[in-house]
Amino acid sequence: MTDTIKADGERAAPCAGLRIGDGAPDFSARSTTGDVRLSDYRGRWLILFSHPADFTPVCTTEFVALAEAAGEFEARDCALMALSVDSLFSHFAWLRLIRDRYDVEVRFPIVEDPTLVIGRAYGMVAPNDNDSATVRTTFFIDPSGVIRAMTCYPANVGRSTPEMLRTLDALQAVDNGPVLAPANWAPGEALLAQPDASLDTVFSAKGQTDWFMKETKRGARK
Ligand code: BEZ
Repeated sequence: MTDTIKADGERAAPCAGLRIGDGAPDFSARSTTGDVRLSDYRGRWLILFSHPADFTPVCTTEFVALAEAAGEFEARDCALMALSVDSLFSHFAWLRLIRDRYDVEVRFPIVEDPTLVIGRAYGMVAPNDNDSATVRTTFFIDPSGVIRAMTCYPANVGRSTPEMLRTLDALQAVDNGPVLAPANWAPGEALLAQPDASLDTVFSAKGQTDWFMKETKRGARK
């Protein structure tokens, strides 16, 4: 299943095993689009996300929403890759149902992880949990293979596709930096400048907040 990662039961817990700035552990696995290897995605953004189980209500709504938004991720040069413990043939049957019932084809890969070796390496399952289902973790992996953001939702709350796109937009915008994305930032809005850490700047600034709070358009997506 995978030849480059080891499950680390000591470290792995939902969303706790890996940290922002870590390299995304490499793996190769079977998926609905054929064999995939994480490192083959170097050079573009990748959102790797887990779901608890095929044929469940919230997961079905997420896959319909993500498949419908697939073009928006593609426009940002970001691939999608899903993962659950279910078998490849379960994934196939579920995608057929989604296509027939919701008229949408899920074309991004869904990895099978029946041994949980990938899920545990990514902290998608608790090490000693009796329930083998992964929670809803989402890893935003940059073109050099570094984890730049992650979210963790429980099984009973679905993710927001607009928020996933906004997070991706913000990560890409700050990479054009040095800029910062403020609360509720959306593409086209002003970013913030990195504060200059010098006492001279602090004392010479006109207004009380001018030395650390400065808007800039730099890095905003067109
Ligand atoms: C769901 O996707 O609806 C779901 C999955 C696992 C547990 C509870 C809900």
